[in-house]
Amino acid sequence: MSIALQNRSISVLFVCLGNICRSPTAHGVFQQHVALRGLSRHVHVESAGTGAYHIGTAPDHRSVKVAAGRGYDLKGLRAQKAVPEDFYRFDYILAMDNDNLAKLRDIEPTDSTATVQLLLDFSSQQQFTEVPDPYYGGARGFDLALDLIEDASTGLLDLLQQRADG
Ligand code: 4NP
Repeated sequence: MSIALQNRSISVLFVCLGNICRSPTAHGVFQQHVALRGLSRHVHVESAGTGAYHIGTAPDHRSVKVAAGRGYDLKGLRAQKAVPEDFYRFDYILAMDNDNLAKLRDIEPTDSTATVQLLLDFSSQQQFTEVPDPYYGGARGFDLALDLIEDASTGLLDLLQQRADG
């Protein structure tokens, strides 16, 4: 595969509710996929929550553990809140579920320059259109979130490379 995005920089923001489970997982997974393709200098990645409950805190220990089991390190990430300025700073703002997406639309400036959609729009599977919130559930929810996020991360990166090549 060619090294795409060569002289361009693309920025991606992943968004969930708390920014301690799903979106930091997407942040860590996508950042590592970007690095494995040698594109770290060209792709800027962050994550944020539509809620402000956990600003400044590290990801949930259950997300950290499940991600670490597949080689992703989330420990250094810290939660932040999505803000209107993000719609100018990021090329893609990708929500984990429809509630996150609706909350983003609520704060989206009319002259936003970002592409705002669901992360699972880039998924190869059809069963799930949203990444279910694992926070109040059992351990299986964290594995499922990671499965869905890994798959969509690959699809997203393939598409970004294709667009940069084209
Ligand atoms: P996340 O999960 O949106 O995937 O980070 C949640 C984390 C915390 C809360 C809700 C969802 N909370 O209500 O505190």
